[in-house]
Amino acid sequence: MSDHVKILAIETSCDETAAAVVVDGRKVLSNVISSQIDLHTLYGGVVPEIASRKHIEKIVPVIQQALDDAGMKLSDMDAIAVTSGPGLVGALLVGVSYAKALSYASSIPLVGVHHIKGHIAANYIEAPELEPPFMCLVVSGGHTHLVNVNDYNSFEILGLTRDDAAGEAFDKVARAIGLGYPGGPKIDKVSREGNPEAVSFPRAKVDEGRYDFSFSGLKSAVLNHLNSCSMKGEEIVQADIAASFQAAVIDVLVRNSMDAVDRFGAKKFAIAGGVASNSHLREAMESECKKRGIDFYHPSPILCTDNAAMIGCAGYYAFMAGERAPLDLNAVADLPLSDPSI
Ligand code: KG4
Ligand code: ZN
Repeated sequence: MSDHVKILAIETSCDETAAAVVVDGRKVLSNVISSQIDLHTLYGGVVPEIASRKHIEKIVPVIQQALDDAGMKLSDMDAIAVTSGPGLVGALLVGVSYAKALSYASSIPLVGVHHIKGHIAANYIEAPELEPPFMCLVVSGGHTHLVNVNDYNSFEILGLTRDDAAGEAFDKVARAIGLGYPGGPKIDKVSREGNPEAVSFPRAKVDEGRYDFSFSGLKSAVLNHLNSCSMKGEEIVQADIAASFQAAVIDVLVRNSMDAVDRFGAKKFAIAGGVASNSHLREAMESECKKRGIDFYHPSPILCTDNAAMIGCAGYYAFMAGERAPLDLNAVADLPLSDPSI
């Protein structure tokens, strides 16, 4: 092993086949992402069976491209990091099986990475000064978690969604108002032309879990509003509904996050996951952090949505802590964040 630790990272948890080469955790030499979005757009959402089949087609060329872009060979790698959960089990299995085969054939150690830990780690890549402890809001298509990052491999969940994830709510509402899939970026864009106060949608508060989230009531409120407009023959202004819905989501994300920041006295606050690329959410979080005099971090959009560079970064800190995955590593659809074996 040279002085530098080189990791080949693989990510196939949903609809992106991705591979990256990351050096010493934070230096990204290559970051290849083959997105299946166009394919799933035809069906209005991710079709798990199609995702798995596409991963099988793409995994070999995507990994080869990542090594080529980095100017390296597999034998130059010190470890292989792969997302082992959570995610779509058939999609995860493609990456996990391939990584295990590569590790076995080349005798390069294998590290299993938790997908949410990867999203959190995306923040390290462009912020060399960022170190734990900090608080992080992970908002993606499958997850809404408020987490205390106590150390590189130590996480404490403060709050999570009781029903829909934030990104899932964006996608469902976008479909209902005719914007199509994926909804997040489309709502983000169209909201710029809309009035966020046009419709007053509910901001759910989960009483027993102080920092928990709930978005299914908001989604139903949007659907009810659309129904009542159509029954009354009123015109639906897409941009106003999008902006009003988005404002409600952001209010709740900001309220819970800042309550927790105040309560725990966090000095640094980060956002991660696909929804973290939302421009309105970034602006709102940035201004709240500024008010409190604390540092705010967010990855570039390409590192917010699913990618393998973030898996390489999280994998590096797990590898340095001595974590190694056995060759019977399995894909786990609902892998918990606090699982000490990952
Ligand atoms: O992190 P990600 O790529 O996949 C999961 O791990 O789930 O997140 C995808 C989600 C989708 O729900 C997508 O609509 C949402 O992130 N998203 C956004 C934006 N860009 C992506 N949501 C709101 N605003 C955006 N700009
Ligand atoms: Zn993700």
